[in-house]
Amino acid sequence: MIEVHQLTKRYGPTVAVSEISFEASKGEVLGFLGPNGAGKTTTMRVITGYLPPTSGKVTVAGYDVEEESIEARRHTGYLPESPPVYPEMKVSEYLAFVGRIKGVPRGELRKRVDEVSEKCAIADVQSRQIGKLSKGYRQRVGLAQALIHNPDVLILDEPTAGLDPKQIHETRDLIRGLSGEHTVVLSTHILPEVSKTCDRVVVINAGKVAAVGTPDELTQRLQGFESVLVTAEGPREEIKARLERVEGVSRVEESDGANGRATFEVHATKEKDVRAELARAVVESQWRLLELRTSGMSLEDIFLKLTTHEEQIKN
Ligand SMILES: Nc1ncnc2c1ncn2[C@@H]1O[C@H](COP(=O)(O)OP(=O)(O)OP(=O)(O)O)[C@@H](O)[C@H]1O
Ligand SMILES: [Mg+2]
Repeated sequence: MIEVHQLTKRYGPTVAVSEISFEASKGEVLGFLGPNGAGKTTTMRVITGYLPPTSGKVTVAGYDVEEESIEARRHTGYLPESPPVYPEMKVSEYLAFVGRIKGVPRGELRKRVDEVSEKCAIADVQSRQIGKLSKGYRQRVGLAQALIHNPDVLILDEPTAGLDPKQIHETRDLIRGLSGEHTVVLSTHILPEVSKTCDRVVVINAGKVAAVGTPDELTQRLQGFESVLVTAEGPREEIKARLERVEGVSRVEESDGANGRATFEVHATKEKDVRAELARAVVESQWRLLELRTSGMSLEDIFLKLTTHEEQIKN
């Protein structure tokens, strides 16, 4: 549903993201986890067509965000880091206004406004002015406007930032409820957030993908289980299938790929050093092994920079 391939974005001399690749498949909630300045917002702004990539390719629902931007945007809803505010507007007016911009047919506007208001639990404030709403309600209005044209893909930049614990719970439930029907990418720098809301996580640090996996796999790695990054030249699908068959391997994720090369993140089931067997599998299949390394340490360093506590939030 979303494919980000070798994306690089520079702001003048600053490289905000460098050759990052990842995918989100239909109906999944993908977490984009990284410390401040990692490049989360930048990546999301490219996916949503607000910023052109410096290089690389991004597609949403099969449409190139640069070359077919109108189609791509039609399939995308976006909650920006700081949502645009029209404090004077009433909630229902604002949602209808965004709906018109997003091409919702006039005859359906009223119904759509009611539907998203219901979904985002703002039906009771429809006739209130946005400027007079609490932060939590305003955030939900932001979510509602992202949903107004019923997009396949939702890009949510720190959707729970600045909310109180109760509001955080409600927003997470809402996002979980959107999965299946919508493909969601949400960014966060809060570690527990991803395990509560996301099916899969891309960890990004200093503009690069540092790890990809399910929340459980990332937690295991933090507890000392290693994962190994294998870069090889050869047929991707075959390499992936071969690595999956190595004893002790629980899961293989493709984390990067270009020019016939592919990098895989290999997760092992137990605390077992699978490196030698992985190397042997690649070489015996006559593929070129370009790199093989553990990524445990650097991930730990990155996680130290993340917010790991949510003292006030009960489960
Ligand atoms: N408009 C801009 N001009 C110049 N540099 C920018 C601009 N926007 C972002 N950057 C830089 O790009 C890098 C990535 O920033 P980005 O906002 O994408 O990170 P982030 O992961 O969203 O961080 P945060 O968690 O603080 O929101 C940072 O070094 C930032 O200073
Ligand atoms: Mg940001």
